[in-house]
Amino acid sequence: MRRSLHGKRAILTGASGGIGQALARALVRAGVNVALASRNSEKLNTLAQELDNDKVSLIVIPCDITVAEDRQRLVDTTVERWGGIDLLINNAGIGSWGHFIDSTEEICRKVMEVNFFAPVELTRLAMPYLMSGEEPVVVNVASMCGRKAMPAWPEYSASKFALVGISEAWRAEFVRFGVDVITIIPGMTNSGFQDNWLRKEGKAKLDFAQGMSPDFVAVSVCEAIRKNRSEVVLGTEAKRLLRFNRYFPKLTDWLIARKIKKLYSE
Ligand SMILES: NC(=O)c1ccc[n+]([C@@H]2O[C@H](COP(=O)([O-])OP(=O)(O)OC[C@H]3O[C@@H](n4cnc5c(N)ncnc54)[C@H](OP(=O)(O)O)[C@@H]3O)[C@@H](O)[C@H]2O)c1
Repeated sequence: MRRSLHGKRAILTGASGGIGQALARALVRAGVNVALASRNSEKLNTLAQELDNDKVSLIVIPCDITVAEDRQRLVDTTVERWGGIDLLINNAGIGSWGHFIDSTEEICRKVMEVNFFAPVELTRLAMPYLMSGEEPVVVNVASMCGRKAMPAWPEYSASKFALVGISEAWRAEFVRFGVDVITIIPGMTNSGFQDNWLRKEGKAKLDFAQGMSPDFVAVSVCEAIRKNRSEVVLGTEAKRLLRFNRYFPKLTDWLIARKIKKLYSE
């Protein structure tokens, strides 16, 4: 199947962030009508002004996706304007970098709320409309930490593993309704993600400037939607790590443990 993006009605969460903004631009280029959602209304309005053209319709919906009333308003506003939803892109997310032993319940719950419960409950609300949408699809932006959990990313890895897990279950369940589910597994992306982490206490050297560009991720997501891929790993380093881990899981863990011992003995 090859899906056409033109004329589709999409909800995009995290539209004010690096990958989200790039995705909004790529979707608009492809002729998609986009409901832009995140908390920062100023950034959303600036983006909407930049993208405004007479070929697509845009809606700015400032909302906190962890708040039930906001999720309901996001879906209701979109449906009132366009009469339905064809694409739900669960992209909003938050990171926390540091070891579990120094972390808190609050951080753990916050990460799970934003990265797991919010997209899950938003999908629950959107499903009745997706089921009568045109070539409908749910896209969940997870992470390579959702396929290989990493030290200093305990809550984040758990939240993305949960998102990857529910995506797999949904993929099988939603065939009954003709709704496809696509999981995106990006590696490091130079998006500004690190500016919004709840903690920055990890010790390893992370250089996000060396990561993929958000534009590359955005174009790849659009391609995954067109080609109706089930799961797409993005980035050379993510592909290498996940492949190495698949064939040599013990060696991978041993190498990671060696690195942690070295970092924390210094
Ligand atoms: N960058 C990477 O290296 C990388 C790698 C793998 C996966 N990812 C995933 O890619 C997705 C996009 O991240 P990014 O790199 O673009 O990071 P980002 O620049 O920090 O963007 C995160 C987006 O999520 C939104 N958001 C956060 N909490 C929210 C909430 N409670 N309600 C509504 N919106 C909320 C933010 O908007 P507001 O602050 O305006 O609410 C922002 O638009 C995330 O799911 C992330 O986990 C990123």
